[in-house]
Amino acid sequence: MPKDNKEKFDQLQEVIDKLKQEQGSLMPIMQHAQEIFGYLPEDVQRYIAKELDIPLSDVYGVATFYAQFKLNPAGKYNISVCLGTACYVKGAQLVLNKLEEVLGVKAGETTADGLFTLNATRCLGACGLAPVMMVNDDVYGRLTPDQVPAIIEKYRLAETI
Ligand code: FES
Repeated sequence: MPKDNKEKFDQLQEVIDKLKQEQGSLMPIMQHAQEIFGYLPEDVQRYIAKELDIPLSDVYGVATFYAQFKLNPAGKYNISVCLGTACYVKGAQLVLNKLEEVLGVKAGETTADGLFTLNATRCLGACGLAPVMMVNDDVYGRLTPDQVPAIIEKYRLAETI
């Protein structure tokens, strides 16, 4: 295991030692692992499987079944497109489609350059601005799909300066 990860694996080992004997401990252990590592890389899944003495496919199955688990590191910019009712009726799906097109990824995925993670979310609590998306802490309201390329470009440009 890489040296800089040693501390994280030590933390994970502590969690495993504490929860191992309890029934249904796989999910909580995976949740803790994700908190520690930020996502669930394959070596972490392997480690958990080995420690719990279960097949890797069991861990992988849970990781892929539940949306809360992330198999890839999050991008620098987390884009959340609200698909709550108010946003949906005002065309949020079209905004999401445009983002998928511009970024070349599907909702739940991260761009290959590690810059953007695209997510569809529930109500963001800004329904008056529907349709709404957030890029990290920045809120964009009353969006139309044709505004999407310029918004993304702004963040890309910020990376090149
Ligand atoms: S439904 Fe989108 S912010 Fe509430």
